[in-house]
Amino acid sequence: MLHGTRPLLLCVLCHVTTAWAFSRMSDAVELRSAFSVARTSSMEGGPKMVVTFDKVYVNIGGDFDPKVGLFRCRIPGAYYFSFTVGKFPRRDLSVMLMKNRNEVQAIVYDENGGEERKVQSQSAMLQLDFGDTVWLRLHGDPRYAIYSNTGHYTTFNGYLIYPDVYGYQEHTHKELEGDIQQPKINDHIVSEHENAVTKDTSVSMKEQRRLEEIKEEERAVEEEDDDQRSAFSVGRSQSIVGVDQGYPEHQPIIFDSEFVNIGRDFNMSSGVFKCRVQGAYYFSFNAGKLPHKTLSVKLMKNHLEVQTMIYDDSDTEKALQSQSLMLSLQYGDTIWLYSHQKDGFGAFSNHAKYITFTGFLVYPELHQSLPQQQKQDKTL
Ligand SMILES: *[C@@H]1O[C@H](CO)[C@@H](O)[C@H](O)[C@H]1NC(C)=O
Repeated sequence: MLHGTRPLLLCVLCHVTTAWAFSRMSDAVELRSAFSVARTSSMEGGPKMVVTFDKVYVNIGGDFDPKVGLFRCRIPGAYYFSFTVGKFPRRDLSVMLMKNRNEVQAIVYDENGGEERKVQSQSAMLQLDFGDTVWLRLHGDPRYAIYSNTGHYTTFNGYLIYPDVYGYQEHTHKELEGDIQQPKINDHIVSEHENAVTKDTSVSMKEQRRLEEIKEEERAVEEEDDDQRSAFSVGRSQSIVGVDQGYPEHQPIIFDSEFVNIGRDFNMSSGVFKCRVQGAYYFSFNAGKLPHKTLSVKLMKNHLEVQTMIYDDSDTEKALQSQSLMLSLQYGDTIWLYSHQKDGFGAFSNHAKYITFTGFLVYPELHQSLPQQQKQDKTL
């Protein structure tokens, strides 16, 4: 039985994949921007605060100048940035992701001046206009330093996720309006004829009309969802401190800075991302540790399904923890962050935004089962 169905399925998949790959390729030709660089030496805090790089792995489009340490936006759109910096023994670590001259986006830090060497990571998506610059700033005080050597502890990456395509969106919406006019005229004709025809045909015509209506609805949903883009990146500028409140209510972490919210699938007032476009999503989150508090932040799906977490129960440590994961999501799935709400738990942040949360669609599902269809499947 399987032998019969498989070639057909493969064929359908081939067709869709080819079409998808082709459309990706045609915009890829000019809409590509990506860099990945590393630094092979340490750097001490001083007046020159821009972190520069001497090893270039990838620089598609040539938008990153490693000697100056600046990424300059050539293609307006939403970009994902991530960086990892090494902590120098007996020094503090504080490196900020900057936009333009002085807009702090996110930070990594480790302030305990301890012996050890280790790395800290941070990531965020940023919406950039032509000419915007993005760079890493090391704290200017010589108490601060980043560590690196030929092991490339210190790295910086960025790539274009979604170029701005507003012109294209307006165009498809106009076409949609035109389409909607037609069925109304058809409906009118059908109802005029209904009286004249026999009962049987009127039933079948009704059915026909209902099918047409369903198709219309599906097409409207499809057109609405034609923009298969979904991405958010948010930051929080306040610490979270757990308190005992009888039984714990699982409240999502709320964020106050919106870097990116394409598709508006992330609800800023509830802190919840709701899946509109089915597919595989990439999520990353970061949070700072408060001294004498345990850091425990979980990535949650739907009601209380823990997907992954960060954790640090050291005592005096003041550092950042990072985590990332891909998830396959269905329409209506929700994703949110939860910080343990008991006394003794907490997460640190301030205006430099230690706590960040990012998610974006990597690949939409090839055969979208539409929300309307799902509802009908249940009622039929
Ligand atoms: C966002 O969340 C708030 C609070 O839960 C809710 O009242 C509001 O309806 C939500 N907005 C959308 C667009 O879902």
